[in-house]
Amino acid sequence: MLRKLLLLIVLGMIAGGAGFWFLSVPVRIDPAKLAAARPGDLKRGESVFWAGGCASCHAAPGATGDARLVLAGGHELVTPFGTFVTPNISPSDQGIGKWAFEDFANAMQAGVSPDGRHFYPAFPYTSYARMQVQDIADLYAYLKTLPPSDNVAGPHKLGFPFNIRRGIGLWKRLYLSPEPVLAIADASDAIKRGQYLVEGPGHCGECHTPRNAIGGLDKTRWLAGAKAPEGKGVVPNITGGEGGIDNWSAKDISYALESGFTPDFDSLGGSMTDVVQNMAHLDPADREAIAAYLKAIPAHPNGFPKP
Ligand code: HEC
Ligand code: HEC
Repeated sequence: MLRKLLLLIVLGMIAGGAGFWFLSVPVRIDPAKLAAARPGDLKRGESVFWAGGCASCHAAPGATGDARLVLAGGHELVTPFGTFVTPNISPSDQGIGKWAFEDFANAMQAGVSPDGRHFYPAFPYTSYARMQVQDIADLYAYLKTLPPSDNVAGPHKLGFPFNIRRGIGLWKRLYLSPEPVLAIADASDAIKRGQYLVEGPGHCGECHTPRNAIGGLDKTRWLAGAKAPEGKGVVPNITGGEGGIDNWSAKDISYALESGFTPDFDSLGGSMTDVVQNMAHLDPADREAIAAYLKAIPAHPNGFPKP
C-alpha cells in the first residue's frame, strides 16, 4: 500500500503540480443517489446515531447521560499524526445547523466539507461510506432534534505535512471505498446485518484493525487487534484467532456489548466504555447480529506485536 501511495506521488510529480491537484481533488457523492432518499425517520435516526457512535467523539469530554446528546465537540483524539479536536455538530450556527442534507451526506460518506475541503479520516467516514443513504437521511433528521450548543471547538494540533488537507485526496484514493470489507459465503440475514453494523456505522475496524505507516487499515488482518492509536497499550483481537475471542460464545459477545461485562466478569474499559454506552441503546437483535458476524469472520492471530 505504501508503494502504491509512493507511486501515486511520483506520478503526481511527473505530471507536475497539476497532476497532484487532479489526483487529490475532492470527489462528491452523485446527487441523484442522495435525491433518492426519503425524508428522515426520527426513530430510525436515533438508532443509527447510537450505532454510529457520534456521541463518543462529539459530546463534550466526560459527558454522561443526556449530556451525551449535546454534540458540542472539543473532544481530543491523540494519534501518531497529531491531535485532532472534534468540531461542534449540534444544530446551531457554530455546528451544522445551516447544513443541507447534501452537505451532511458528503461529509459522512465522501469526507468532503460544504466548502469543498477534505476531512481527516480521524472522522471515520471511511466506515460511514458503507452506510445506506437512507440511514444517513434518518440520522440527519435525528441530529436536527438534539440540543444546540454555541461551543467553538479549538483547531487541530498537526505538524507538516499532515496540516495540508489537500494531500488527503491521495490517501482517499487508496482507502475510501463503499464496498464491504469481507465477502462471507452463505451469510445468514443476521450475519449480513451484523456485517453492515460493524463495517459501516459501528466503525469497529477503526480501532480493532492494525494500520500501516500512512494510517490505512490492513484489511488482511481485519479486526485482529491493533496498537492503541494514542501510543500506549493495545486494542484486543476480536476474531477467533490466537489471542482473540474464540472462547466467547455469541451470547457472551452480545451481553458484553449491552452490559460491558466479559465472560470472566471483567468489565470493558478504555475507549470501549463509550462504545458499550452506545451499543446498549441498540435493538437486542442488532447486538446479536454483531455477535453473529464476529463469529463468522476469518480468524487471525493478534495484529499487534507481543509486549
Ligand atoms: C472517532 C471519532 C469520531 C466519531 C466516532 C465521529 N466523528 Fe465526526 N468528526 C471527527 C473529527 C476528528 C472531525 C473533524 C475532521 C476534520 O477536521 O477534518 C469530525 C467532523 C465531523 C463533521 C464535520 C463538521 C464540521 O463542522 O466540519 C460532521 C458533520 C461529523 N463529524 C458528523 C459525525 C456524525 C454524524 C458521527 C456519528 C455517525 C460522527 N461524526 C462520528 C471525529 C469523529
Ligand atoms: C474507540 C475505539 C474502539 C471502537 C470504535 C471499538 N472498540 Fe471494542 N475495544 C476497544 C478497546 C480499547 C477494548 C479493550 C477494553 C478493555 O480492555 O477494557 C475493546 C474491547 C472489545 C471487546 C472485548 C475483547 C476482549 O478480549 O476483552 C469486544 C468484544 C469489542 N471490543 C467489540 C467491539 C465491537 C463489536 C465494536 C464495534 C461496534 C467495537 N468493539 C468498537 C476499543 C474500541
